[in-house]
Amino acid sequence: MTSRSTQLDGQVAIVTGAAQGIGKGIALVLAESGAAIVIGDIQEAAGTVEEIRDDGGRSVSMIMDTSKPEDAQSLVSLALREYGRLDILVNNAAIDAPGGNAWDLPDQEWQRTIDVNLSGVFYCSKAALQPMLEAGRGAIVNLSSQAARLGAKGLSPAYNATKAGVLGLTMGFAAQVSDMGVRVNAVMPGLVESRDFGWSAETREARAREYPLGLGTPRDIGEAVLYLVSPGARWVSGTALHISGGYQRGTSWF
Ligand SMILES: NC(=O)c1ccc[n+]([C@@H]2O[C@H](COP(=O)([O-])OP(=O)(O)OC[C@H]3O[C@@H](n4cnc5c(N)ncnc54)[C@H](O)[C@@H]3O)[C@@H](O)[C@H]2O)c1
Repeated sequence: MTSRSTQLDGQVAIVTGAAQGIGKGIALVLAESGAAIVIGDIQEAAGTVEEIRDDGGRSVSMIMDTSKPEDAQSLVSLALREYGRLDILVNNAAIDAPGGNAWDLPDQEWQRTIDVNLSGVFYCSKAALQPMLEAGRGAIVNLSSQAARLGAKGLSPAYNATKAGVLGLTMGFAAQVSDMGVRVNAVMPGLVESRDFGWSAETREARAREYPLGLGTPRDIGEAVLYLVSPGARWVSGTALHISGGYQRGTSWF
């Protein structure tokens, strides 16, 4: 195994939406640090599980929908059944509502985006808190986005709203459970090339120009999550880390 660190040895982490993209990057980084990884995704995540196992790690997955409370509960039950404990939850699964403006966003797209990106985070956190509070320890990391505070023409306002809502959930949960041993934080990534966005070379170059350190990779976000769940972050709860390659557009009102 290409283990760099053993700081999560013996720990068990749920990562939602880890079949691909940023979730997969997070799962691989946490696995390399010793955590057993339990993946919940609406699509098959066998590729990620195999990669972790081939590298000497432990991982299982199930097909589920984070927007369904009973699925969130089943995912936590899977972690407890397979590995007997739950230390970490990474709420990564989300959808981009189709590009569009406020006046032409279909109502059902608005609702689905709220259901997955916001309610999904609530359901999975609520389910995970039960064993975490019983054990008196745990760490939850929520994937927000710099889109929580930056809108754009053609970008679904439903996405902006859910990513701002994720910050609210992070603060609300952190206020209620930090003194019971569970730390809750968020990351706000900038643009991460998590999949093929179908851009032309010119578009990619134009986007990359906004990032002094270049576009992000899924593993860049994995490293930030690793910090937030590691013992080094023992005094960190109720915060949101901007991980965005030096991007500075917009105001910094939070
Ligand atoms: N890519 C970026 O530039 C970027 C920037 C900021 C924040 N983020 C956030 O990072 C996270 C991951 O983004 P990504 O780019 O890797 O996305 P992605 O679309 O590549 O991957 C999302 C994963 O979540 C899964 N998923 C979708 N709906 C689900 C559901 N209802 N239940 C369970 N699984 C579900 C998908 O199957 C997929 O595996 C998201 O929360 C996203 O909002 C991404």
